[in-house]
Amino acid sequence: MKVLAIETSCDETAAAVVEDGRRLLSSVVSSQSALHKAFGGVVPEVASRAHLELLGPVVGEAMQRAGTGPAELDAVAATIGPGLIGSLLVGVSAAKAYAWSWGLPFVGVNHMEGHLHAAFLEDPKLSLPTVVLLVSGGHTMLICMQGGDDGQVEYRLMGETIDDAAGEAFDKVARYLGLGYPGGPAIERTARDGDPTAISFPRGLAGAGYDFSFSGLKTAVVRYVRAHPEVWVADVAASFQEAVVDVLVAKARKAAAEVQARAICIGGGVAANSALRRRVEEICRADGRAAFIPSRAMCTDNAAMIGATAWYRLRSDGPTPLDAPVDPNLKLPLV
Ligand code: KG4
Ligand code: ZN
Repeated sequence: MKVLAIETSCDETAAAVVEDGRRLLSSVVSSQSALHKAFGGVVPEVASRAHLELLGPVVGEAMQRAGTGPAELDAVAATIGPGLIGSLLVGVSAAKAYAWSWGLPFVGVNHMEGHLHAAFLEDPKLSLPTVVLLVSGGHTMLICMQGGDDGQVEYRLMGETIDDAAGEAFDKVARYLGLGYPGGPAIERTARDGDPTAISFPRGLAGAGYDFSFSGLKTAVVRYVRAHPEVWVADVAASFQEAVVDVLVAKARKAAAEVQARAICIGGGVAANSALRRRVEEICRADGRAAFIPSRAMCTDNAAMIGATAWYRLRSDGPTPLDAPVDPNLKLPLV
């Protein structure tokens, strides 16, 4: 079964063709980040307009690279939420129009569920239960993916952030340090020249369950730089990154032990961070667990993960009605 999938929930315009939820025939991602750079963050209206201009060519290229025409497709999917409402509407309206005009089922996909399924695309042998650390600009969650009674995959939330998301913390600290946008890659680049042990920043909620807190860390960075204006920015970036990675990894490790997970998997934009990737691999090796570290392209927003999830959802729930609305605050279906 071939699915054409569209992702426009934030600032990447993406389309992919995925076969049977596992085989990637093509994946095209057009990032708008250069467009939003001047504003220091994503401007929703600018994003919607750019999606409108880019989507047609991006879908065309995905179909061409997959060597697929509408006649070979079995469904059209799009991210239906969560995300920016204007951006979601562009992708969903287009997907519904393609589906209707080609006589195919439409499948609305939850963006977060997409991130959870991304690893399966690259590692079909992924075994459950697996603890997934989902860290993006909008979310920070520890989820246990487990097999349900009916053979379906279930998602159990073990912990989440009580304030800022991990990516948000990277973006805010990068902006404060004048490192630019998007903040995660900028901090990572700057941190390469710094000493991660130079400054001892707080580890929010360390030792207290599985929830996360990053706003105190952000304030600590601002206070430190104000008190030490001569500090080397690379040391601040490296020490901040170390503090974030430390708590993420410690909690994922504890959660994996509690549920006796076969593996730890990471997803979302922050999972592109080299320090986090390296540390997750290290703790998995030490604990005798598998580490599923998707490629960077599969961690950040893309349509391939939406196509993989759509196949799975179509089999379990059937098509989504064409009058289904987008939902900017869509939640993950949890057990
Ligand atoms: O999943 P994503 O592409 O978009 C959503 O939020 O859904 O994640 C974007 C976030 C941004 O906050 C960005 O700064 C962060 O992921 N990010 C990184 C890195 N690359 C992207 N954070 C740390 N290190 C990176 N290398
Ligand atoms: Zn995302």
